[in-house]
Amino acid sequence: MDLELGGKVAIITGAAGGIGRATANIFAAEGARTVVVDRNAKGGMETVAEIRKAGGEAIFIRADVATAAGASRMVGRAVEAFGGIDVLHNNAAIIRSHSVTETSEAEWDLILRVDLKSVYLCSRACIPVMKKRGGGAIVHTASVHSFASIPAISAYAAAKGGVLALTRQMAQDYAADGIRVNCVCPGATDTPMLRTAINETENPRKTWKQWEQACPLNRIGKPEDIGHAVVFLASPRASFVTGQALIVDGGLLAKL
Ligand SMILES: NC(=O)c1ccc[n+]([C@@H]2O[C@H](COP(=O)([O-])OP(=O)(O)OC[C@H]3O[C@@H](n4cnc5c(N)ncnc54)[C@H](O)[C@@H]3O)[C@@H](O)[C@H]2O)c1
Repeated sequence: MDLELGGKVAIITGAAGGIGRATANIFAAEGARTVVVDRNAKGGMETVAEIRKAGGEAIFIRADVATAAGASRMVGRAVEAFGGIDVLHNNAAIIRSHSVTETSEAEWDLILRVDLKSVYLCSRACIPVMKKRGGGAIVHTASVHSFASIPAISAYAAAKGGVLALTRQMAQDYAADGIRVNCVCPGATDTPMLRTAINETENPRKTWKQWEQACPLNRIGKPEDIGHAVVFLASPRASFVTGQALIVDGGLLAKL
């Protein structure tokens, strides 16, 4: 099925690895001109190399998306390279495994800044450019933690709950401009973030197995599982979908 993304300009933040890299590869395979954004230059350039090797079009922009200057530079460079922006995937995030009483104020501020404020900053920078184009699509990466929780993940869960609420809210403000806003909510997905978090547990092998068994589909997600959902939400095939959360978790949240 042609997703009608040929020639569209798609920005993906946090695309130096994991879900962002997989999503960038899929956008490019669908013919989108892809803007790979990350603060990790080595990983970002690797993503661009993968895309080009497969015959796609991509550039890398090094930026800290949790700063207004980074978000603004990202948009400026994307417009310079490709003349506009059609899609923004707000995907960059970090995680820390702490309860409220274990979380320092500095750590709380850091997580909320990277995981929630960056979504506001990058959207704020992109939307005027999308409006000039007559519309666009924004997809945030929220999480299963937007809906349910586990011990010791306080700031991350708060940020991801915020991303879900902001998805619904932004959909109201920009519908008249032809801009749809949705989010994808991954369950446990095999990326550097998940591997680091699992390796911090007492028995990583057991924890990995537990996450697999918690899913009716009995496996950890692949980054591409999430990427395909993002690319669908960003495409004209989802033209009547806005303000929604697409949960991609192998059935994890469907289980009592
Ligand atoms: N892996 C999972 O199990 C899982 C589950 C639910 C949600 N998610 C979400 O999916 C998204 C992608 O996560 P992932 O698992 O691929 O993680 P990852 O750590 O593999 O990738 C995140 C990327 O974001 C980049 N990044 C972090 N802070 C940044 C900043 N300030 N500016 C620019 N780039 C920055 C990192 O360099 C990294 O390349 C995140 O929003 C995460 O919260 C992941």
